[in-house]
Amino acid sequence: MDAADNTIRVWDPIVRIGHWALVLSFFVAYFTEDDFLTQHVWAGYVVGVVVCIRLVWGLIGSKHARFSDFVQSPAKTIRHLGDLIGRRTKRYIGHNPAGGAMIVALLIGLSGTVYSGLVLYAIEENSGPLAGWVSDNSTSTSLPAIISTALADEDDDDSDDEREEHEDEAGEEFWEEVHEFFANFMLLLIVLHVAGVLYSSYVEKENLPKAMFTGRKRID
Ligand code: HEM
Repeated sequence: MDAADNTIRVWDPIVRIGHWALVLSFFVAYFTEDDFLTQHVWAGYVVGVVVCIRLVWGLIGSKHARFSDFVQSPAKTIRHLGDLIGRRTKRYIGHNPAGGAMIVALLIGLSGTVYSGLVLYAIEENSGPLAGWVSDNSTSTSLPAIISTALADEDDDDSDDEREEHEDEAGEEFWEEVHEFFANFMLLLIVLHVAGVLYSSYVEKENLPKAMFTGRKRID
């Protein structure tokens, strides 16, 4: 606590640096896509590493960084959303319950985006940490069992090579769709996240983006 400027430290450097690294790397990855694959993949790795660090930090980090500090029950989160809309919410020093729910959704969305990207990179380029794993077990890991069984039934007359090629293409298409779904889902979450941050800043009369830079919020 700093009595001189009436503020208290809320966000530690891991939370702050992690947050702005995520913002930067997510948008680099989103806008580079296939045209600049190297940059896209490296930005994706940064997202993955930051998310892994944040998940561990949610268990062992500073007070307001811990999941136990901001993950609330659905009932409490819904009640808080109602209070927020009615502008009668109490002030939270850490993440408020709606913010906490959004953070869980963002971390799940980011994990899904990174995982599907890694599988796709392994199938398409035979590169990345999942390369050996996906290409060695191409049928069983690159496609969900239900789809590969359906393909196998369809392809009874094909030679083994043709069938494998068919399955590889289907696997690639499937993971492309999954990766695209997660990336667009993330964009939707980010729009909602930023809108929520701006609205909460207005209702709580606190500049929350600034606090994510300085790590400090006012005391009263
Ligand atoms: C310019 C756009 C953005 C702004 C202004 C912004 C602002 C903020 C603020 C103020 C918080 C803290 C909310 C609170 O006080 O409870 C926060 C948390 C968070 N934001 Fe953003 N955000 C932005 C974009 C993003 C993007 C693009 C992502 C993901 C790719 C993201 C992921 C997160 C996560 C994971 C947290 C939780 C932080 C933690 O506890 O580690 N944000 N953001």
